[in-house]
Amino acid sequence: MMTQSECRVVVLLSGEGSNLQALLDQAATGTLGGARIVRVISNRADARGLQRARDAGIAATLHPHDDYPERDKYDADLARIIAASRADLVVLAGFLRILGHECVLPYRDRMINIHPSLLPAYRGLHTHRRVLEAREREHGCSVHAVSPELDSGPVIIQSRVPVESDDTEDTLRARVQREEHRILPATVHWFAAGRLLIRDDGIMLDGRVLKQPLVLNQGDRLPD
Ligand code: GAR
Repeated sequence: MMTQSECRVVVLLSGEGSNLQALLDQAATGTLGGARIVRVISNRADARGLQRARDAGIAATLHPHDDYPERDKYDADLARIIAASRADLVVLAGFLRILGHECVLPYRDRMINIHPSLLPAYRGLHTHRRVLEAREREHGCSVHAVSPELDSGPVIIQSRVPVESDDTEDTLRARVQREEHRILPATVHWFAAGRLLIRDDGIMLDGRVLKQPLVLNQGDRLPD
């Protein structure tokens, strides 16, 4: 159970961990409310995010999928590691693996994901490349509650960025990630403060059902 003062957060990632770093930085400056990152889990040994966790004095667990021929068993063991950490909130921050029911269902009221697109557009991988190929004028990122279907579940907040004519995948990714690093910590903060509730019938923020996601434009001030 989440106590009034503390929300135990477990972060799952597969790579760089810049979103984890944004959470750690905000926790260090006291702007993550009662959220405390208690464990970081990666499916990949070479994930830089594991080292970022260790550097911050946070438990880092490698849970490699190569060891598991069966997906269900991998997910069930992952759910056990998360449960042992007594997680109040699970944050998928670049966890590039589809999670099955065994792991999602026990946490469906407390699991969020950051995805690099304006969902429901561009689910899946390589979103920046696909956005450039489609000559979109606008791109962005979304934080959503996790359901067993890929990159689904109700969207909580999105931030839009322009696509510039000379953008490459790298420049576009960097612009999108600057926004990721704002909206993910904000969402964690709201959850930890008890302001954000993920329910079967939708998202509640500050006592109201969120009929549509909150939508920001690049650099807009975050809602209080
Ligand atoms: C982030 O851009 C995140 O949106 C994306 O992985 C990146 C991880 O970066 N997630 C997905 O594509 C999930 N479908 P990071 O490791 O530097 O935080």
